[in-house]
Amino acid sequence: MNSYISKDLQREYDLKRQRAIGEAETRRKELLERLPRYEELLIRKNKLAIEMAKTMLKGNDLDRQIAEENMKIKLGEIDREIETLFVSEGLPKDYIYPKFECGKCEDTGFIRLGNKETRCSCFTQKVVNITYKQNNMLRLEDENFNTFDIAYFSNKVDKEKYQSDKSPLQNIEDIKKLSISFVNNLDNPCQKNLLFTGRAGTGKTFMSSAIAHSAVNKGYSVLYQTAPLLMDMIIEAKFAGYKDETKKEQYNRVFDVDLLIIDDLGTENLSNTKFTELFNIINTRLLKDKKTIISTNLTLQDLAVQYDDRVMSRLIGNYTICRFFGDDIRLKKKKMC
Ligand SMILES: Nc1ncnc2c1ncn2[C@@H]1O[C@H](COP(=O)(O)OP(=O)(O)OP(=O)(O)O)[C@@H](O)[C@H]1O
Ligand SMILES: [Mg+2]
Ligand SMILES: [Zn+2]
Repeated sequence: MNSYISKDLQREYDLKRQRAIGEAETRRKELLERLPRYEELLIRKNKLAIEMAKTMLKGNDLDRQIAEENMKIKLGEIDREIETLFVSEGLPKDYIYPKFECGKCEDTGFIRLGNKETRCSCFTQKVVNITYKQNNMLRLEDENFNTFDIAYFSNKVDKEKYQSDKSPLQNIEDIKKLSISFVNNLDNPCQKNLLFTGRAGTGKTFMSSAIAHSAVNKGYSVLYQTAPLLMDMIIEAKFAGYKDETKKEQYNRVFDVDLLIIDDLGTENLSNTKFTELFNIINTRLLKDKKTIISTNLTLQDLAVQYDDRVMSRLIGNYTICRFFGDDIRLKKKKMC
């Protein structure tokens, strides 16, 4: 992870956390002044806790256990009384607790897995977002499985037009099912990668976005980039000789991120260096067992003309090929407006 970005972001997290804790403290103080009953209940709670500590020090195991259980019940009763008091004041139950942006790491940026501390996914995803310009990101909030609209897909089979026994509707429903299963199996080594092919406006980027949205929500790091920008970035990073920390970070992310989405493959300007880099990305990610989605307007035949056998054999062997077909939804949407 880029040390500059990480340090800045960590500082941001520390501030955010302190702010949340400070604000909660202010709310608590204000409440103590305003509601004497609340103060009384807190004092009772404190006394009980002290009593409990004292009891724990003496008596036999059974006495201690009984005392502890009793104390828990009493503490619970006070907590419920506090809750009722809050409700009667029109306050949420968690009013005095800090409101953290991320419930998983409570804005520390770290989570504990066993006895190991790892970066929380919210932090990793923020690094990805910072590293890559926002305008290249997907529209995750607009294009996801919740906003998926089957009304754009015809239920008429047109074998001549689409060379398929399925209707566009049946086809997209199958791809959607496969995509949901894909995102549920990102860690599964048996899960193949996805290759989306199809004409313009048939929903490839939408489906990629829906998968990305779901993966991010599950805590995976996701990187979306169009093939031309990805290739330029990779080559720039190489030319910078990895001295530029941001470029080095960008480069490494392409290989390390849990899910890489390469959109619009085939629209990049082709060169031998780019072929080598594309092969390197596809191959390294396969070896690392990291999932990739590739989208393209090209057919498999076109791809075979543009890319060499080493790339093609990996795509065919390790990717499930999903052919998108149907009307151009972009045009359909335009007509509807
Ligand atoms: N399942 C869907 N539900 C609702 N809207 C959709 C769906 N699929 C696609 N769209 C909309 O249709 C338009 C075109 O879809 P998209 O961008 O995914 O096409 P594409 O296959 O990636 O096209 P291109 O090859 O030109 O990149 C977008 O406005 C998108 O929001
Ligand atoms: Mg697209
Ligand atoms: Zn977090």
